[in-house]
Amino acid sequence: MGPMVKKQLSADEIVATGLRNQWYAICPSSQVPKGSIHRVRRLGMDWVLFREPNGRLRMLEDRCPHRGAALSLGQHLGTKLACAYHGVQVDGEGMVVSVPGLPGCNLEGKRLVPSPPIKEVAGAVLAYIGDDAHPEPEPLTLPDPLVDEGVSSFLCYAEWDTPWRYAMENLLDPMHGAFLHRESHSMFGGGTQARFRIRETERGFFFEKTDQRGLNFDWVEFCRTGIDWVDLEIPYPPTAGPGGPFGIVGIGTPIDAERTAVFFWRYRRVSGWQRDTWRFLYRTKLEARHWQVLEQDRVMLEAMPHDADQAENLYQHDLGVVRLRRLYRNLAEEQVALAPELAAV
Ligand code: FES
Ligand SMILES: [Fe+2]
Repeated sequence: MGPMVKKQLSADEIVATGLRNQWYAICPSSQVPKGSIHRVRRLGMDWVLFREPNGRLRMLEDRCPHRGAALSLGQHLGTKLACAYHGVQVDGEGMVVSVPGLPGCNLEGKRLVPSPPIKEVAGAVLAYIGDDAHPEPEPLTLPDPLVDEGVSSFLCYAEWDTPWRYAMENLLDPMHGAFLHRESHSMFGGGTQARFRIRETERGFFFEKTDQRGLNFDWVEFCRTGIDWVDLEIPYPPTAGPGGPFGIVGIGTPIDAERTAVFFWRYRRVSGWQRDTWRFLYRTKLEARHWQVLEQDRVMLEAMPHDADQAENLYQHDLGVVRLRRLYRNLAEEQVALAPELAAV
């Protein structure tokens, strides 16, 4: 693993641009075909992704070790990138392999560009983003619906102009299903009143209605397993074919303090002909409807002022939101508190 970014962030900056020392979904795998160079901004930093000729994916900080130019503007040379500015070549592990303008230059052979550990799972690239004190990846338990053979999923990817916290809080707020999505094909049922509770689990907590299940967006489980994700379930009408309710695994990744990349895997526990039917119906009919629902979320979140949480009046349904905020605030403060020890090392 290469050197990590040196700038020390405040707890506010961490909450705004994402907790460190955990895995995140970065982009759909399909955005990095062989031979291409793909630039993304995540957690307020620029990254470049490319594939080696054998298909192996690589991710580097998008910053040339010479003078900081964007490596993503450079040339793809198979197993390395050549910076467009003065030609310095960096391999997939962040090592300078050549300084063509000054052969034998002492940058050669040094690993100077951060290259986070990555994995490709269920059509998405995941990466571990550590701080200086935690360059080695935390153990990762993948969301079970994404690795379960009996589950069939589709990934929806979008970028929303909303701060990360609002995108995450939206997932911990099941009650909006009965209002914002009331006209949708899957969330017209059930009551518009409810009481909620938090139920602890080994990997996080459920936020669930106490008096209704299986009629609308009635529960969500927040899971922290090396990566933060939610699992939730929404009923389908009979026209959506066999297989019962559909689940959603959701992951939000900060792009920067103002924007969020969202990943939603829509899944169903189906096999055999039911699996084929689900995949056919999803592609031909359901996907377009799901995008309509996601658009409702996007429009609502993008229109919220960025300081919306400075003047709110919460009620019982917002316990999940409050719980998540407290968790993230505490974790951000822990990450800051560890920082001064670094100076002494
Ligand atoms: S900045 Fe990249 S080679 Fe000079
Ligand atoms: Fe929603």
